[in-house]
Amino acid sequence: MADYEDWDAARGQDIVNGLAGLEGATLPILHALQAAFGCVPRDAVPMVADALNMSRAEVHGCITFYHDFRAEPAARHVLKLCRAEACQAAGADALHRQVLDELGVPWHGTTADGGITVEPVFCLGLCACGPSAMLDEAPMARVTAAGLRAALRARDDPRVAA
Ligand code: FES
Repeated sequence: MADYEDWDAARGQDIVNGLAGLEGATLPILHALQAAFGCVPRDAVPMVADALNMSRAEVHGCITFYHDFRAEPAARHVLKLCRAEACQAAGADALHRQVLDELGVPWHGTTADGGITVEPVFCLGLCACGPSAMLDEAPMARVTAAGLRAALRARDDPRVAA
Protein backbone atom coordinates (compact mmCIF):
# COMPACT_ATOMS: atom_id res chain seq x y z
CA MET A 1 0.00 0.00 0.00
CA ALA A 2 1.10 3.54 -0.66
CA ASP A 3 2.36 5.84 2.06
CA TYR A 4 0.22 8.92 2.35
CA GLU A 5 0.94 12.36 3.69
CA ASP A 6 -0.82 13.58 6.82
CA TRP A 7 -3.40 16.24 6.03
CA ASP A 8 -1.80 19.64 5.68
CA ALA A 9 -4.03 22.57 4.74
CA ALA A 10 -1.31 24.48 2.88
CA ARG A 11 -0.40 21.40 0.84
CA GLY A 12 -4.08 20.73 0.15
CA GLN A 13 -4.57 24.30 -1.02
CA ASP A 14 -1.53 24.00 -3.32
CA ILE A 15 -3.03 20.88 -4.91
CA VAL A 16 -6.39 22.59 -5.39
CA ASN A 17 -4.85 25.78 -6.78
CA GLY A 18 -2.56 23.86 -9.11
CA LEU A 19 -5.46 22.12 -10.86
CA ALA A 20 -8.33 24.59 -10.47
CA GLY A 21 -7.71 26.12 -13.92
CA LEU A 22 -8.31 22.84 -15.75
CA GLU A 23 -11.47 22.27 -17.76
CA GLY A 24 -13.59 19.97 -15.58
CA ALA A 25 -11.21 20.33 -12.65
CA THR A 26 -13.36 18.64 -10.01
CA LEU A 27 -12.33 15.03 -10.60
CA PRO A 28 -8.62 15.76 -11.21
CA ILE A 29 -8.50 17.72 -7.95
CA LEU A 30 -10.29 15.01 -5.97
CA HIS A 31 -7.99 12.33 -7.44
CA ALA A 32 -4.90 14.40 -6.63
CA LEU A 33 -6.05 15.00 -3.05
CA GLN A 34 -6.73 11.30 -2.58
CA ALA A 35 -3.37 10.36 -4.11
CA ALA A 36 -1.63 12.67 -1.64
CA PHE A 37 -3.62 12.02 1.53
CA GLY A 38 -5.21 8.62 0.92
CA CYS A 39 -8.68 10.18 0.99
CA VAL A 40 -10.41 13.47 0.28
CA PRO A 41 -10.20 15.03 3.75
CA ARG A 42 -13.29 16.88 4.99
CA ASP A 43 -11.26 20.06 5.36
CA ALA A 44 -10.46 19.97 1.65
CA VAL A 45 -14.14 20.16 0.65
CA PRO A 46 -14.54 23.92 1.27
CA MET A 47 -11.24 24.56 -0.54
CA VAL A 48 -12.47 22.73 -3.62
CA ALA A 49 -15.87 24.41 -3.42
CA ASP A 50 -14.35 27.89 -3.18
CA ALA A 51 -11.83 27.28 -5.97
CA LEU A 52 -14.44 25.92 -8.39
CA ASN A 53 -17.33 28.15 -7.38
CA MET A 54 -19.37 25.14 -6.28
CA SER A 55 -21.35 24.55 -3.12
CA ARG A 56 -19.87 22.27 -0.48
CA ALA A 57 -22.85 19.98 -1.01
CA GLU A 58 -21.97 19.66 -4.71
CA VAL A 59 -18.39 18.71 -3.89
CA HIS A 60 -19.56 16.26 -1.24
CA GLY A 61 -22.05 14.81 -3.75
CA CYS A 62 -19.21 14.21 -6.18
CA ILE A 63 -17.13 12.43 -3.54
CA THR A 64 -19.98 10.14 -2.56
CA PHE A 65 -21.14 9.49 -6.15
CA TYR A 66 -17.81 8.04 -7.28
CA HIS A 67 -17.06 4.86 -5.37
CA ASP A 68 -13.31 5.32 -5.58
CA PHE A 69 -13.25 8.45 -3.43
CA ARG A 70 -13.03 8.12 0.33
CA ALA A 71 -13.61 10.57 3.14
CA GLU A 72 -11.35 8.55 5.46
CA PRO A 73 -8.04 6.88 4.65
CA ALA A 74 -8.35 3.20 3.76
CA ALA A 75 -6.83 0.43 5.82
CA ARG A 76 -3.52 -1.25 5.08
CA HIS A 77 -5.36 -3.63 2.73
CA VAL A 78 -8.34 -2.86 0.51
CA LEU A 79 -10.66 -5.67 -0.53
CA LYS A 80 -12.92 -4.80 -3.46
CA LEU A 81 -15.86 -7.11 -4.07
CA CYS A 82 -17.67 -7.02 -7.41
CA ARG A 83 -21.37 -6.31 -7.10
CA ALA A 84 -22.21 -6.16 -10.80
CA GLU A 85 -24.68 -8.47 -12.53
CA ALA A 86 -22.50 -11.34 -13.75
CA CYS A 87 -20.96 -11.76 -10.33
CA GLN A 88 -24.38 -11.52 -8.70
CA ALA A 89 -25.55 -14.33 -10.97
CA ALA A 90 -22.59 -16.38 -9.73
CA GLY A 91 -23.66 -16.01 -6.09
CA ALA A 92 -21.81 -12.84 -5.10
CA ASP A 93 -24.56 -11.49 -2.84
CA ALA A 94 -24.45 -14.46 -0.46
CA LEU A 95 -20.65 -14.43 -0.50
CA HIS A 96 -20.61 -10.70 0.30
CA ARG A 97 -23.00 -11.09 3.21
CA GLN A 98 -20.78 -13.83 4.64
CA VAL A 99 -17.55 -11.86 4.14
CA LEU A 100 -18.95 -8.64 5.60
CA ASP A 101 -20.35 -10.59 8.57
CA GLU A 102 -17.08 -12.36 9.20
CA LEU A 103 -15.11 -9.13 9.05
CA GLY A 104 -17.77 -7.26 11.06
CA VAL A 105 -17.95 -4.31 8.67
CA PRO A 106 -20.49 -2.67 6.37
CA TRP A 107 -19.62 -1.65 2.79
CA HIS A 108 -16.84 0.97 2.88
CA GLY A 109 -16.08 -0.13 6.44
CA THR A 110 -12.72 -0.86 8.00
CA THR A 111 -12.13 -3.74 10.41
CA ALA A 112 -11.69 -2.86 14.08
CA ASP A 113 -7.95 -3.58 13.89
CA GLY A 114 -7.60 -1.17 10.97
CA GLY A 115 -6.33 -3.96 8.74
CA ILE A 116 -8.88 -4.22 5.92
CA THR A 117 -11.28 -1.86 4.19
CA VAL A 118 -14.03 -3.47 2.12
CA GLU A 119 -15.28 -1.58 -0.93
CA PRO A 120 -17.90 -2.46 -3.54
CA VAL A 121 -16.80 -2.33 -7.15
CA PHE A 122 -18.90 -2.66 -10.28
CA CYS A 123 -17.08 -5.02 -12.65
CA LEU A 124 -13.46 -6.01 -12.58
CA GLY A 125 -13.48 -7.46 -16.09
CA LEU A 126 -13.58 -11.01 -14.73
CA CYS A 127 -17.27 -11.51 -15.43
CA ALA A 128 -16.89 -15.02 -16.86
CA CYS A 129 -15.34 -16.33 -13.67
CA GLY A 130 -17.20 -14.60 -10.88
CA PRO A 131 -17.65 -13.95 -8.10
CA SER A 132 -14.69 -11.63 -8.55
CA ALA A 133 -12.69 -9.54 -6.13
CA MET A 134 -9.51 -7.53 -5.91
CA LEU A 135 -7.30 -7.63 -2.85
CA ASP A 136 -5.05 -4.58 -3.01
CA GLU A 137 -3.94 -4.78 -6.66
CA ALA A 138 -4.39 -8.56 -7.06
CA PRO A 139 -7.51 -9.70 -8.98
CA MET A 140 -9.23 -12.84 -7.74
CA ALA A 141 -11.65 -15.03 -9.70
CA ARG A 142 -14.19 -17.66 -8.57
CA VAL A 143 -13.88 -16.28 -5.09
CA THR A 144 -15.07 -18.29 -2.11
CA ALA A 145 -15.19 -17.25 1.53
CA ALA A 146 -12.46 -19.80 2.32
CA GLY A 147 -10.28 -18.51 -0.53
CA LEU A 148 -10.68 -14.95 0.67
CA ARG A 149 -9.83 -15.93 4.24
CA ALA A 150 -6.65 -17.61 3.01
CA ALA A 151 -5.69 -14.60 0.87
CA LEU A 152 -6.26 -12.20 3.76
CA ARG A 153 -4.26 -14.39 6.11
CA ALA A 154 -1.42 -14.54 3.57
CA ARG A 155 -1.35 -10.72 3.36
CA ASP A 156 -0.61 -10.49 7.04
CA ASP A 157 2.15 -13.08 6.85
CA PRO A 158 5.41 -11.12 6.53
CA ARG A 159 6.93 -13.99 4.52
CA VAL A 160 4.42 -13.53 1.71
CA ALA A 161 3.23 -9.93 2.12
CA ALA A 162 4.08 -7.68 -0.81
S1 FES B 1 -19.53 -8.49 -13.21
FE1 FES B 1 -18.06 -8.93 -11.68
S2 FES B 1 -16.22 -8.85 -12.80
FE2 FES B 1 -17.66 -8.20 -14.26
